[in-house]
Amino acid sequence: MSTSPAASLRAANDVLAPNDLEAWWLPFTANRSFKRRPRMVARAKDMHYYTPDGRAVLDGVAGLWCCNAGHNRDAIVSAIQAQAAELDYSPAFQFGHAGGFALASRLAAMAPGDLDHVFFCNSGSEAVDTALKVALAYWNVSGQGSRTRLIGRERGYHGVGFGGISVGGIVTNRKHFGTLLAGVDHLPHTYSREHQAFSTGEPEWGAHLADDLERIVTLHDASTVAAVIVEPMAGSTGVLPPPKGYLQRLRQICDRHGILLIFDEVISGFGRLGHAFAAERYGVTPDIITFAKAVNSGTVPMGGILVSSRIHDAFMKGPEQTIELFHGYTYSGHPLACAAALATLDLYRDEDLFARTRRLEPAFGAAMMSLRGLPNVLDIRTLGLVGAIDLASRPDAAGARAFEAMDRAFQEHGLMIRITGETLAVTPPLIISEDQIGELVDKLGRVIRAVA
Ligand SMILES: Cc1ncc(COP(=O)(O)O)c(C=O)c1O
Repeated sequence: MSTSPAASLRAANDVLAPNDLEAWWLPFTANRSFKRRPRMVARAKDMHYYTPDGRAVLDGVAGLWCCNAGHNRDAIVSAIQAQAAELDYSPAFQFGHAGGFALASRLAAMAPGDLDHVFFCNSGSEAVDTALKVALAYWNVSGQGSRTRLIGRERGYHGVGFGGISVGGIVTNRKHFGTLLAGVDHLPHTYSREHQAFSTGEPEWGAHLADDLERIVTLHDASTVAAVIVEPMAGSTGVLPPPKGYLQRLRQICDRHGILLIFDEVISGFGRLGHAFAAERYGVTPDIITFAKAVNSGTVPMGGILVSSRIHDAFMKGPEQTIELFHGYTYSGHPLACAAALATLDLYRDEDLFARTRRLEPAFGAAMMSLRGLPNVLDIRTLGLVGAIDLASRPDAAGARAFEAMDRAFQEHGLMIRITGETLAVTPPLIISEDQIGELVDKLGRVIRAVA
């Protein structure tokens, strides 16, 4: 007797016993602890996840900075279903489909400046590696093949590919993986609790840290430097908003030395900071933007890069039958991901969600700052619909307090949050209401008191 798909899904969702959780080695997870006390979700709608036993959990993190339009939105679900029934898969090597071209045009129209060309992949990590490879190849096809050096930043997160961890600056993501890419330098990170504690928006202090790029260029000579990559707002390291003027200064120094500037917008894109891209918020146009996650509200894996016409056009030469860039993925521009993205971009537009974020930003920032003064709160930072709270560590147990906060938030307070080290981060879907902001902050406050 065959079971229906819905029945199989229900059966899968019924798996709660730790013994049944053995085979899946979860990424970036304390697996042994998870399997002793699992945090399982079974379904989601709008602002909430639901556990297998039906408990509602307020989504304080848009999944993983992904579901900016909220969960299981009817228009996106229908678009994916219709696409699966029409064209399930189409190879992107030497063939194409309308959805991919339609989406690329939409994204190019949303991007600043002449970032008019899109290369699709399937994740943020792939987007970063694609951006770094395109930067290196660009200098090769432009007759400046000596430009091979890549510059990232301390505390930067650029995914988990070898390129991404090489330019990234999070020690735990690098230290076990050998020698990484050669020829990589790092700018200093931009956080100083002494100068920036409890700032809403961009901190006043820190623009001068961009000048370290001059030092690196002087050390190696500009003729060896291919590109600088930064997150406009460092996210995964614990939310570090850019100091006022910092990104503008980086752009100026890159221009002075002919260096490409890459913004990794995997989490800052699609409304998180109140604009389609953070580049727009800061009035700084990079040469390449990476994107992923919220491009289709996290529904189907997708990533990509937007590149300037100057970069794109440099490749478009030689005999017409030759491949211009030897790079790509089997699932680049997958029809389901494209259909989901087109429906998501419609929702962002029709519900004006980016402008809504700008309107909510002051109330959200003020609500988060109301937690100042609670036990162990060392700093709070907010930007757009992003908030982070640093907690004091327990003696000899770095990260234990935040870990307990994340677990208790889910198990006991019906709230999903994210942690990095001793930082609690919240990045709710952009559809959050003012009442729900109040609820989120209230729950956060109770959690912080519970782990005192
Ligand atoms: C800035 C940035 N780049 C890249 C990535 C990697 O994305 P993925 O996990 O989809 O590979 C992330 C993920 O959070 C990110 O925040």
